[in-house]
Amino acid sequence: MKRAFAALIAVAGIALLAAAASRVDGLNLFVAIVIPYSALALLLVGICWRVIRWSRSPVPFRIPTVCGQQKSLPWIKAGWLESPWTTPGVIARMGLEILLFRSLFRNTRARLQAGPRLIHGEDKWLWLGAMAFHWSMLIVLLRHLRFVVEPVPRLALYLERLDGFFQIGAPVLYATDIVMLAALLYLLQRRVREPQVRFISLFTDYFALFLLLGIVISGVWMRYFARVDAVAVKQLALSLTVFSPSLPKNLSALFFAHLALVSTLAAYLPFSKLMHAGGIFLSPTRNLANNNRMKRHVNPWNAPVKVHTYEEWEDEFRAKIEAAGLPVERH
Ligand code: HEM
Repeated sequence: MKRAFAALIAVAGIALLAAAASRVDGLNLFVAIVIPYSALALLLVGICWRVIRWSRSPVPFRIPTVCGQQKSLPWIKAGWLESPWTTPGVIARMGLEILLFRSLFRNTRARLQAGPRLIHGEDKWLWLGAMAFHWSMLIVLLRHLRFVVEPVPRLALYLERLDGFFQIGAPVLYATDIVMLAALLYLLQRRVREPQVRFISLFTDYFALFLLLGIVISGVWMRYFARVDAVAVKQLALSLTVFSPSLPKNLSALFFAHLALVSTLAAYLPFSKLMHAGGIFLSPTRNLANNNRMKRHVNPWNAPVKVHTYEEWEDEFRAKIEAAGLPVERH
């Protein structure tokens, strides 16, 4: 629990410092302009650095992890999706993994029951929590385009309408806000309450969760309880996007906290586990077709070795083999 508290204090500290800085001339410029630019730069440079490092790791052979029959002899039924040997098969498997977290859907959980008996059972809650969180976050981010793009993209407007389908008064209540908050709280309680998960949880696991929770709570607070001046927010966001930053007067301390937490997330993402979002595309255990039996994959870094094939050996000793009455492959 110490790690969880440390992470909570770190996130609360960032939010409070940013909120306090919003009231000090000079410091407010730092939080609203310098930090977001630096965070964006770190995000872009960090992602490039990670991708370059990954792409430089040697992958001389095909190493897909599969859970289906490999393509081999014609009468053995092969699993085109579970062990794909073609590019469309790989794309289908990757697509299902990225969009629907298919491998997480098969996640199981071991529990020790009275006896003692070890029971392996299904665990669909983690999958549901992860899907709910990631899809809601995507929709929230797409909706946020209204702050940084003028005119507001149609997609953002359409999502706003769809997301606010059960309008209860004003402002319109977004379904994704409730889902994202609920999913994050579920993921946090799972980490804290399940002994096995708690045992392997590090400061960084809690930090990412609290950071996301901080962003969502401050956003929800701004939208439903302490209204923020949306025009001023858009003015700042647009000025940042065209590299001509200017800080409008009436931005609340809560907005500064939201922005500082988002900047922290952006700067932290490439150097953390959250980079799994990019890693999934570059994972050689997923993105390679399993055609090991159809194609000979030669390690391109192999040092040239002089080989003596069976055919050459047979040619060399043919007379002696035949004289001894032993069978040969080629006459
Ligand atoms: C990782 C990035 C971000 C996440 C996950 C996030 C999340 C949220 C959430 C969940 C809300 C609640 C209301 C809603 O769903 O629209 C919200 C509101 C808000 N966010 Fe963000 N946000 C992010 C980035 C930003 C950025 C970069 C800005 C600055 C332009 C910003 C400004 C706002 C504002 C002004 C509101 C209040 C909206 C309203 O009153 O309708 N957010 N945010």
